[in-house]
Amino acid sequence: MKKEIIELLIKKAKEVRKLAYAPYSNFKVGAALLTKSGKIYTGCNVENASYGATVCAERVAMFKAVSEGERKFEAIAVYVETEILAFPCALCRQVMYEFSPDMKIISANKDRYEVKTLDELFPYPFGPKDLLKSGGN
Ligand code: THU
Repeated sequence: MKKEIIELLIKKAKEVRKLAYAPYSNFKVGAALLTKSGKIYTGCNVENASYGATVCAERVAMFKAVSEGERKFEAIAVYVETEILAFPCALCRQVMYEFSPDMKIISANKDRYEVKTLDELFPYPFGPKDLLKSGGN
């Protein structure tokens, strides 16, 4: 990926992180998703007093995109302010796999970033093809 695109996605993820609603964990996350059509959708984590109702920044960005008709993703940047870089949770990886098994994940903080493929982060996935194999049983 081009460095300028990576840096733009990180900037947008950093900006939207400010809107994170995370009063329970205090762990604020921002995400910026680039679709294959060239659009960018952002998301922040949205927590809830019923903790399980929390949605991660990455899924907010992806669901915004899907609800606007976008299903093919190029890359997603995830921005945190911790020293240790954060990579998407397993639920978010599952949602990524549904739409774009070949997408890239950029994990960033204020000092650095790393780029990985979903393939690297999510080996032996369960996906649409597995449902077809079952023959409906
Ligand atoms: N979270 C994200 O938004 N994305 C991640 O990649 C990791 C976790 C959120 C969920 C919850 O609001 C908080 O971070 C702590 O788990």
